[in-house]
Amino acid sequence: MTPARLVVLVSGAGSNLQALLDACRTNDYGAEVVAVGADRDGTGGVERAQSAGLPAFVERIRDHAERDSWDAALTKSVAAYDPDLVVSAGFMKLLGPRFLDRFPVVNTHPALLPAFPGAHAVREALAYGVRLTGCTVHLVDSGVDTGPIIAQRAVEVADGDDEGALHERIKTVERTLLVDVVGRMARDGWTLNGRKVRIGR
Ligand code: GRF
Repeated sequence: MTPARLVVLVSGAGSNLQALLDACRTNDYGAEVVAVGADRDGTGGVERAQSAGLPAFVERIRDHAERDSWDAALTKSVAAYDPDLVVSAGFMKLLGPRFLDRFPVVNTHPALLPAFPGAHAVREALAYGVRLTGCTVHLVDSGVDTGPIIAQRAVEVADGDDEGALHERIKTVERTLLVDVVGRMARDGWTLNGRKVRIGR
């Protein structure tokens, strides 16, 4: 079987990217990371890509007069690698309409959507006082973390958790979930019916 081609988008440390890179090295995972893109310079994610000998690129919004031209540039950069699936793994920008028309995109989010969408999900879940939070892997649409949910896992909030400690525990679960979901999508394909995502043929 030809492995599915993944382009992974990152904004930060890239531990989710690393989990995917490690999984892709195992037999029969069914996918390979062909390139990594970032929205800013100096990300750990791009360093990890370079260490793995993979091509990496940066498309910064601030280099464009309008968001639409950033959307076009990012679409072009990613299209050059002809991905079957784009994985947004800690990518902190809303993808544009051109990009989303062209590629299927999966995102990982550190909360149980639809609770706590947006960039401060862990902080907001803690501040709200929830006892259970977790992570969500979902297809990306034009909203903020509103796309169809593929899979979720729960993580308990511990007494005395701060944002950093809770986020690290969520990320441990998140990496495993992302690797599992992306691998199954790559090997088995998926269908979307309304908001219901079904992995399998
Ligand atoms: C993840 O928790 C992701 O859901 C969130 O940012 C974190 C990225 O972590 N948006 P990393 O860069 O993959 O280590």
